[in-house]
Amino acid sequence: MIKMLHSGWAYITLIVLVFAVVNAVIGLSSKKDFKEKDLRIPLFTLIVSHIQLIIGIIAFFVSAQFQFLRENGMGAAMKEPEIRLAIVEHPLMMILAIVAITVGFSKHKKQPTDKGKFKTIALYYGVALLFVLSRIPWSKWLSF
Ligand code: HEM
Repeated sequence: MIKMLHSGWAYITLIVLVFAVVNAVIGLSSKKDFKEKDLRIPLFTLIVSHIQLIIGIIAFFVSAQFQFLRENGMGAAMKEPEIRLAIVEHPLMMILAIVAITVGFSKHKKQPTDKGKFKTIALYYGVALLFVLSRIPWSKWLSF
């Protein structure tokens, strides 16, 4: 059930993250004023990604890959690409992505100009999006 929740919540996380980046890039390039909705979109993304973090941590401990790690040790786990992705690469990159989102949201608030706010969101959320896209287990995710 946790795995299904994590898999389903990933759609929402990815959609809102793409939306936040696109909104910030449009705001920046068309020199728009930073309005209420421009705050709400990255805030919503922050909340959604933090929920995914919690679900992900639970998914980690109940996963078959973690079970494999406990039974066979880190050395054996690192030799299996699918297990290495699930217990090392994916969690690490996703945590870094969520850190980038959190730092970006906090930094954008301190920016004195609208341009600075859009730029900070575009940069940090953009990096987060690249991290997420790089380590989603695409073949597994899209296979059902
Ligand atoms: C932005 C954050 C995240 C996104 C978008 C995301 C997305 C995904 C997706 C799409 C899958 C494949 C699900 C499937 O097989 O249908 C997955 C699997 C997994 N994720 Fe995440 N994830 C995120 C964060 C995390 C974090 C922070 C952790 C752990 C600390 C984590 C641990 C796992 C594990 C262990 C699996 C494999 C589960 C299994 O095959 O049993 N994820 N994730």
